[in-house]
Amino acid sequence: MIRPLLLKPQWMNGLSERLLVSHYENNYGGALRRLNAIRARLAALDWARTPAFEINGLKREELIAAGSVILHEVYFDSLGGHGDSPPTGLAEPPAALAQALERDFGSVMAWRAEFTSMAKALAGGSGWAILAWSERLGRLVNQWAADHAHALSGATPILALDMYEHAYHLDFGAKASAYVDQLMTNLNWDRIGARYRLAIGEGAREDELFLPYGAPTQEEARISAEELKAALENDGDRRPILLDLCLPRDLPRRIDMLAGASMHAPAVLPRWVEDLPRGRPIVVYCICGFQVSGTAVKELRQRGYNARALVGGITAWHAIGGTTVPLDASTYEEVA
Ligand SMILES: [Fe+2]
Repeated sequence: MIRPLLLKPQWMNGLSERLLVSHYENNYGGALRRLNAIRARLAALDWARTPAFEINGLKREELIAAGSVILHEVYFDSLGGHGDSPPTGLAEPPAALAQALERDFGSVMAWRAEFTSMAKALAGGSGWAILAWSERLGRLVNQWAADHAHALSGATPILALDMYEHAYHLDFGAKASAYVDQLMTNLNWDRIGARYRLAIGEGAREDELFLPYGAPTQEEARISAEELKAALENDGDRRPILLDLCLPRDLPRRIDMLAGASMHAPAVLPRWVEDLPRGRPIVVYCICGFQVSGTAVKELRQRGYNARALVGGITAWHAIGGTTVPLDASTYEEVA
């Protein structure tokens, strides 16, 4: 299943929304779609009758796609500000991770110098710079990876820096080194620290840290893009009503919507809410599934509606290959 973006793509330091969303929807989403298609093919395979070259091809592609999915998730989860705030560029690793970096690299600065140099050395080619925890080596390692399938056996990635050209070319052209420096000012050390605690077996799953800011915390108030796709195949009363919520300031960021959705301004919810039929499931979405849909779903549920927020918003919908229609803002309310 697709993971939502946790970073706010319009608010990053020196990384454009266009770059981040294209990377998420096309490269991460593309890898996930490829992985699911390969796994469906493998599930239907008659292993005893399939030629070796076909098995080799499918299993190789499965490994590459799965590596790409997992590393892109580590990459995107590691970026962004805290809560509603953009990244400051000043944040440092939390104490436990800082101590581990000091123990294994001499200092946080020394780790950073090695990590960024390793990433910059991949410029002109492609691959990943990975900070990983190795249980066998008993330490954090900076691991070089020439492709999605390169990994130190048994190690858990804590932080992954994408050095494929698609990760920076739109904003930086061929200046991969400037991209690396800019990326390092956008790290979310809270989430990287949580990932480290989990890797060494000391953390509990910190689910809220890995939910988009403002998304409903109760699971029954959320719906994944994949679940929505299946739900929209229902007919009649079981088919969810789709509400597209957008802040006035975000309208210029929008070009499309889900077929059959109606668009509303969240600020004037009492004006449009009473037209909604009761007894039908309602799915609310916004751009990325942060507080715009989260707050509306909370209000709708308090009023007794069976409403759920689309996890990751229309951005996650695009990433799973969901179809859309051109934006129709004719139902959008004037907001005083
Ligand atoms: Fe990528």
